[in-house]
Amino acid sequence: LSGSTAYITLPSVLVVGPPGAGKTALITRLERRTPQPATTYTSQTLNIVELAINEDGTSKYSDDLDASGAVAKKFLMVDTPGHGKLRGATLARLASAASTAETKLRAVIYMVDSAALAEDGGIAAAASYLYEILLALQKRMSAGKSSKAPPAIPVLIAANKSDLFTALPATLIKSQLEAELGRIRTSRSKGLLSSGVGADDVDSASENDDWLGEYGSKAFQFGQMREFDTDVTVLAGNVVGDNGSGPGLDKWWRWIADKM
Ligand code: GTP
Ligand code: MG
Repeated sequence: LSGSTAYITLPSVLVVGPPGAGKTALITRLERRTPQPATTYTSQTLNIVELAINEDGTSKYSDDLDASGAVAKKFLMVDTPGHGKLRGATLARLASAASTAETKLRAVIYMVDSAALAEDGGIAAAASYLYEILLALQKRMSAGKSSKAPPAIPVLIAANKSDLFTALPATLIKSQLEAELGRIRTSRSKGLLSSGVGADDVDSASENDDWLGEYGSKAFQFGQMREFDTDVTVLAGNVVGDNGSGPGLDKWWRWIADKM
């Protein structure tokens, strides 16, 4: 992203999410245009691939645009490590890339393992990182370095591994993440008030700083992010096991193509 100047001129999509969600599997499969992804390893660094769609945005991820000689729009997909200790760098990069009006960042994909979400603590683990990502996007509206407002940055919550029969359906993933994000923002605001800091010491600006979505609202809903020019969409899919056992990745590809 911002660290790699060679790439700064192409529009980009940032892929984030908890470890093992399938982020690297997704981008290697898109890069190679193969029916099955390559073997992946726990990521420790950024992994950037160059992809293309045709001019009117209708090509499939499996189309070889170079071979067909079509005029293509190129863009970058940036895969990040999900490990907790490596998230700080991703969040810092996101915050700086998203806050300028000239940003090339067009979209963020938050990938989750839909089967892991059905396990104990799965939703909580996925929601805590998502909270940080959405908060960084929300804050870009106030952190603006230029007088021009930063552009809209939509978020796709890619509910991956829906080929597995234990996978939670997208509608449930959406409502359960919303509920958990709501719990996180309540506990954060309480944590601040009960941390021993006198109410007078807390200036109201910093108090509101970590509140995600509409200030003071009872329940959190993804729709509240629209006020900050961030549309959130949840779509189920799968990178592995595309032989009729799940919806595959066509819907995600369409969503991406639409943002380029
Ligand atoms: P980190 O690099 O640790 O952040 O993880 P990651 O999000 O890059 O995950 P990775 O792409 O390495 O995938 C983790 C495992 O999930 C691999 O064994 C993949 O083969 C598997 N996987 C990815 N997508 C799917 C899917 O759609 N269905 C199933 N069943 N397995 C998948
Ligand atoms: Mg990875």
